Amino acid sequence: MHTTTQVGIIGAGPAGLLLALLLHRKGIACTVLEQRTRQDIEATIKAGVLEHPTAELLRQLGVGARMDQEGFVHEGIELAFGGRRHRIDLPELTGGKTITVYAQHEVIKDLVAAVLANGTPIEFGVSDVRLDGLETARPTIHYTHAGNARSLGCDFIGGCDGFHGPSRQAIPATLRQEHLKVYPCGWFGILCEAPPSSKELIYAQSDRGFALLSTRSQSIQRLYFQCDPSDHVDNWSDDRIWAEFQARLANTEGWQVQEGRIFQKGIIAMRSFICETLRHGRLFLAGDSAHIVPPTGAKGLNLAAGDVVLLANALARYYRDDTEAGLNEYPERALRRIWRGEHFSWWMTQMLHDMEGEDSITRRFRRAQLDYVVSSRAASTALAENYVGLPFEGIEQI
Ligand code: PHB
Repeated sequence: MHTTTQVGIIGAGPAGLLLALLLHRKGIACTVLEQRTRQDIEATIKAGVLEHPTAELLRQLGVGARMDQEGFVHEGIELAFGGRRHRIDLPELTGGKTITVYAQHEVIKDLVAAVLANGTPIEFGVSDVRLDGLETARPTIHYTHAGNARSLGCDFIGGCDGFHGPSRQAIPATLRQEHLKVYPCGWFGILCEAPPSSKELIYAQSDRGFALLSTRSQSIQRLYFQCDPSDHVDNWSDDRIWAEFQARLANTEGWQVQEGRIFQKGIIAMRSFICETLRHGRLFLAGDSAHIVPPTGAKGLNLAAGDVVLLANALARYYRDDTEAGLNEYPERALRRIWRGEHFSWWMTQMLHDMEGEDSITRRFRRAQLDYVVSSRAASTALAENYVGLPFEGIEQI
């Protein structure tokens, strides 16, 4: 069976779903194809920090109600090192901006509901996705749905299918300009049933490595500690996990992490990746298909949102003014914000993690840097303005 649309979107993650909503506002038709089931994408645990511009975007798109009701606005984060905590006051340093802690899969639920309510089709559970004719005016996405071979003819393809998706691979390797840095550490993440231990997120640097205390609700907490990326969750009993958190997050005031039943454990890899080739013919990459950040800066979803604001505006300009000027500019404009987010994520990561094989001077540099960040208003402001998120370019045109 063959169907047609204006923009074929591959991937129903934050990038694909936000792009679908933005295009609908511009009167542009699209179809979203997703490899996984709706239940699956609405239940997968990911990160949970929304930058100020991302929260505003969700409100502007009419999908902020549950976030405003159930999410938590945080006005600060704490940096912990040397047994002491130092608060970064976000609104004070950024002219009133905050972050919102609201789980990514909750954002996904809100976006899926809104996209479907608009009448935009999302086909879940598709497989064998293949992109064709990217350098023609009428590219096609071939795929299988419920055992049937299908194809979707479109004017443009939004490649929003994550790091492992087929979109980026559809760009010939010889044309792709990619940059990759793999960190020698991973994050061991847990979800547990416990009350919050702190009102704000705590990023802790200790002699045993990094730890992060985050939250999901009054009764569910999210915590991470730096681990060997090749370690396995089975090596970590609950008792051993709690001992590690208590040791890494300990402060001189005898404060302790609230422990509780651990109901999810997982290890995530840490890498910085950028594919600068955001366009190939009629294919445009956005979100994780084009770039991955280590989670330390909480930037992943937020960078995806910035990409699709620019991409939707460029596509709208094409249909309105019959010009590819906006589309031609998309890679360069998007990459400016992507590189900023990538650099911030790397900067936070190297400041807070002990890296395998590093020398003693690097360790001391890290402490000197942390000390400067918490004691200089200029340095704290630099962290805060990046953490709450730099403005989305083109947001006024959505
Ligand atoms: C999370 O709550 O999952 C989280 C928070 C902050 C980060 C990364 C992840 O930097």
